[in-house]
Amino acid sequence: MSTPFDDTLSDAQFAELVKITHKNTGITIRENRKTMMVSRLRSRLRAKSLSNFESYLKLLKTDPTEMVEFVNAVTTNKTLFYRTPRIWKYLADEFVPGWIKAGHNRPFQVWSGASSTGEEIYTAGMVLEEFRLSHPGFDYRIVGTDVSERVVAEADRGIYSGRAIDMFRTASPDLFSKHMVGDDSNGWSVSPDIRTRVRFKQHDIFKPFQSSQYDLSLLRNVLIYFTHEDQERALRNVERALRSGGLLIIGESETLSPLHTNFVAVAPLVYRHRNALAEKAA
Ligand SMILES: C[S@@+](CC[C@H](N)C(=O)[O-])C[C@H]1O[C@@H](n2cnc3c(N)ncnc32)[C@H](O)[C@@H]1O
Repeated sequence: MSTPFDDTLSDAQFAELVKITHKNTGITIRENRKTMMVSRLRSRLRAKSLSNFESYLKLLKTDPTEMVEFVNAVTTNKTLFYRTPRIWKYLADEFVPGWIKAGHNRPFQVWSGASSTGEEIYTAGMVLEEFRLSHPGFDYRIVGTDVSERVVAEADRGIYSGRAIDMFRTASPDLFSKHMVGDDSNGWSVSPDIRTRVRFKQHDIFKPFQSSQYDLSLLRNVLIYFTHEDQERALRNVERALRSGGLLIIGESETLSPLHTNFVAVAPLVYRHRNALAEKAA
């Protein structure tokens, strides 16, 4: 007779899962989130035909492919096209025109370190594509990374429908009609001109990324899941990845003010590296 399914999670098992989550994503799960943990992992137990969390923990410790699924399950991937219009307006009205004026002889480089299913990256693509069309010589490259392999694969596929599309169409009808191709039955994606300038890759923000490469780093709506100490660690990797004069944009419910970093606020949610400001003043 098979063992009956039992999704009871003991405090000790929960504590172990919290530890594993932190080690593999940097995310700190609060003590009162046990029910959430159970609901996110129940389908993993079923997928692996396991009858309880004791067996699941054993599997997790021995099977690296299950760790990938675990990370997919414990991360929160909510995102939107054209989320927080003021940051896209800041880029379009202030930062990119200034960057173009400075006469760089290379593509504008963007990195989003928690890009989820791609909506943020493709929005950046549409905003930058507007400049490419109106400024001969201007070009850009964008890379999106995320710790979850599932969302990276979805972003790479880049086909959207339903609420994501309805909300985007309302928030920015001009960008939508100019740069999205497709239809409501088969889904929508960004135009091939933007698509060829965008790539996605699995990467954990706590590991160093390319150094001194990027003019803009988007690290939005992910710092909220980290402790202050871990936020500082993640931001050190962002600092390293930015070029002199590079910009960091964070999420609407995040702030760097309690942290020790080398970033200085230049507009709401927008920061520059302190050294870059000093160089500008000199
Ligand atoms: C709420 S989404 C934010 C998406 C997008 N940046 C936005 O603001 O719309 C948070 C994303 O952070 C990712 N994430 C969590 N921990 C991470 C880590 N250590 N490294 C990279 N990405 C991580 C999650 O997988 C998730 O897709």
